[in-house]
Amino acid sequence: HAPAVDDFRHVACAIVGVAASGRIAFVEEVRPGEAGAKAAALARLKAAWRFDDASVVELGVHQFLVPGLVDTHIHAPQYVFTGTGYDLTLLQWLEKYTFPREAAYGDTEYARETFGKVVRRTVRCGTTTACYYATTHLAATKALADVVHEVGQRAFVGKVNMDRNSPDYYVETTAESLASTRAIVDYIRTTLQSPLVTPVLTPRFVPSCTPELMRGLGDIAAEFDLPVQSHLSETPSEIEWVAALHPECTSYSDVYARYGLLTSRTIMAHCVHLSRAERDLLRERGVGISHCANSNFCLHSGALNVRRLLLEGHDKLGLGTDVAGGYSPSLLDAMRQSIIASKVVHVGSRERAAARSRAASATTSGSAVEHVINGHRHDNGHGSGNGHSNGKPNSAGNNGCLALFDEDADDTAIYAPLSFSEAFYLATLGGAKVLGLDKQIGTIEPGKDFDALVVDVAAVVGAASNIDVFPHDDPIAVFEKFIYLGDDRNIVDVYVQGRRITP
Ligand code: GUN
Ligand code: FE
Repeated sequence: HAPAVDDFRHVACAIVGVAASGRIAFVEEVRPGEAGAKAAALARLKAAWRFDDASVVELGVHQFLVPGLVDTHIHAPQYVFTGTGYDLTLLQWLEKYTFPREAAYGDTEYARETFGKVVRRTVRCGTTTACYYATTHLAATKALADVVHEVGQRAFVGKVNMDRNSPDYYVETTAESLASTRAIVDYIRTTLQSPLVTPVLTPRFVPSCTPELMRGLGDIAAEFDLPVQSHLSETPSEIEWVAALHPECTSYSDVYARYGLLTSRTIMAHCVHLSRAERDLLRERGVGISHCANSNFCLHSGALNVRRLLLEGHDKLGLGTDVAGGYSPSLLDAMRQSIIASKVVHVGSRERAAARSRAASATTSGSAVEHVINGHRHDNGHGSGNGHSNGKPNSAGNNGCLALFDEDADDTAIYAPLSFSEAFYLATLGGAKVLGLDKQIGTIEPGKDFDALVVDVAAVVGAASNIDVFPHDDPIAVFEKFIYLGDDRNIVDVYVQGRRITP
């Protein structure tokens, strides 16, 4: 497990005691290989903890325990069209696929059946905690909460709110939206009363919610001390739209802040294009950020600079699959894609920095920007008619094309991609922090709930094995192989709060 972003721990051999409550009572390290020592420690611990009738699960040589994975952002109804429409960008994709598919959940039977598939699939992939969006429908959202409860996954479940800029067939009035939000909160808290299921307020994103609706949701969040989830700064055209809708606000983040939706219990997905001021605001408010790298690649949204957030002191960072913006329901995939994103964000940065300094000196000296390739001088304007640049320095003093780049993303001094252990931290304790559950889950230590996976790197054997372990592989190398090559076949058991829920 990873008790901090820079603290990855491997324990060769241990006995983990889990009480009937599902809480971890003890973690006792044992010398590996000493069978006698293990049996003696087990007998001593059973007696000391009065665990005499405890059942013992012994892991095999190629097996190990990791904390359960936390998906901080997933749309349950969108599972049905994962892998569809990634030629489009966000706003077109919402209109063409998302809204029609979500509208179908007005049929509660369909909702129940489909949600069963999603929840079992995510558990199969090792997601012990998920932060779900349902749809705008009250009955469908109840069905999702019911299914999650029946399967035994830990989850936040939110009824989506949408009362503007939405198609006729998938929109609510402000009053309906607020009333059904109160109803779902009441259903989950007082009817379902599952210790593992929490209601979360879910304004879809600013363009879908009127100021009255956002204000009303802010009031409900404060009244019941509830978490809030939404989307923030995912794509440039969305940001432009928000700016046009809210001239009274200083930024996209400021809109949520003004309507009472930016609190220490808020989870914001994406946050790819935030300004420095917005990043500071989010950090000061203790807002959790869900990094959804797969989705950001699929929908052409950009790549979040996670390293910069870490260096700026954000400590509520987790990973989200964002199914179906992302095509994979697996946090293993989210880890890999977050590592790729952390590398991509810097691709070309040295070149851009050099180009920018050339542009700056050319502006100062009053000459046009030029550079030299193979002895030929080239105009740096990329020709005319590309929509971005006329090849002349613009009023900002930069070549117009360069102005498209996020200035401080080009700080080559911070080039440091995520490591596999950092990505693993984000998928476990980082996600737990985003959801405010870090006292309960995210690591395997006494006092926390036993949300854990049994991983078997040799679960697939023979000519088609997905992970091959060689004599030169030490345990950390084996773990790294699991992160990069592993899949649901290597997750042989899934426990939530001490209960085995493997589908
Ligand atoms: N912004 C508003 N709605 C959505 C959605 O369903 N998915 C993603 N990725 N972004 C959104
Ligand atoms: Fe999303």
